[in-house]
Amino acid sequence: MSLAVSGKVTAALEQQARFCAALGAPFTGALCRVLATGVDPASLTGQRLAAWPGEPMTDALPMRLTGALHWLVRGGRAPGLAALYPPAAMPDDAGLAAALAGLFAVPAIDAAIAAFLDSPPQTNEVGRSGALVPALLTLVAKTGQPLALNELGASAGLNLNLDRFAFDLGGVTAGDPASAVRIAPNWQGPPPPAAALQVVARAGVDIAPLDASDPAVAERLMAFIWADQPERLTRTQAAIALARAVPPPLEKGDAADWLERTLSLADGVTTVVYHSIAFQYFPPTVQARVMGHLAKLGATATPQRPLAWLRMEMDDPANPTTPAIRLSLWRGNGEEAQLLGHCHAHGTFVQWAG
Ligand SMILES: C[S@@+](CC[C@H](N)C(=O)[O-])C[C@H]1O[C@@H](n2cnc3c(N)ncnc32)[C@H](O)[C@@H]1O
Repeated sequence: MSLAVSGKVTAALEQQARFCAALGAPFTGALCRVLATGVDPASLTGQRLAAWPGEPMTDALPMRLTGALHWLVRGGRAPGLAALYPPAAMPDDAGLAAALAGLFAVPAIDAAIAAFLDSPPQTNEVGRSGALVPALLTLVAKTGQPLALNELGASAGLNLNLDRFAFDLGGVTAGDPASAVRIAPNWQGPPPPAAALQVVARAGVDIAPLDASDPAVAERLMAFIWADQPERLTRTQAAIALARAVPPPLEKGDAADWLERTLSLADGVTTVVYHSIAFQYFPPTVQARVMGHLAKLGATATPQRPLAWLRMEMDDPANPTTPAIRLSLWRGNGEEAQLLGHCHAHGTFVQWAG
């Protein structure tokens, strides 16, 4: 295959290849490594990559490309490449290169890949509920009240249904044991408190909400999950089916605008604002307004009308790649802040401090 990718695109693909290999996605890593050796310059995709205007890593270009391929494979439009995808045995680079060259040589497929590159990846990781729910159990153990859930940066809103998933959290079960969405992170540390989750209200916001009931949107969401990770694919598919049956109430808007407009406290209910791997994407002014509004509303909270702020975010300088699970609670005595633990970015493991 002759080269058509620019040096910066090659470097981004090579970096992503190392990243995937380190994160347990060797097949997706191999795809990136082979794509880094070049894409046919006569193809639309090759021309697109060669002239990429932005910063490929910032634009998540490698994820756009592997997402496009996975999307074609899942849609049955690339049988030659599909035969090499997991659960097949790991192919060699030459076999992968030949299958990819075959794809870029088909004009309709090449055009579909090039068009897929237009939009940035958007994901919704259900595994993160394995870090959010133990924090909600901790909250219920403190307040003894039902919960009103408010999620910021909710994407497709799959985690607005988290009380409807089945959890095994270090031996503590929670949620709906009959649920097809099964969440059992590798648990380290003491178990969370056993408590009954009762959700009496739920709402979410995203600047670009995804409608998981739209099959095309759902397929795109699935395509961005690495093909090496069958457990992520299974639980996301199950959460999408659940969201179709019980659609999460999701609004389009900015997190701060929405919070300032909609958030209020209610008697006998713990109002929870939560977010996972979302805060870093909010502009600094939005982050400041969210925190300011929570502090302002928190100052009016009482034991009867508490306010909680739960986040799973990469905000711990001591653990820059491991998200921290933090809980703040206002119930009349100022902010009670707690670092509950850390977890894998997809919720694969939870290191619980309790
Ligand atoms: C990495 S995704 C995480 C989605 C979800 N919280 C999860 O854990 O899977 C970040 C989300 O934040 C949303 N977002 C970015 N800026 C936003 C804003 N100002 N207000 C609301 N949502 C925003 C994005 O559209 C995206 O869906």
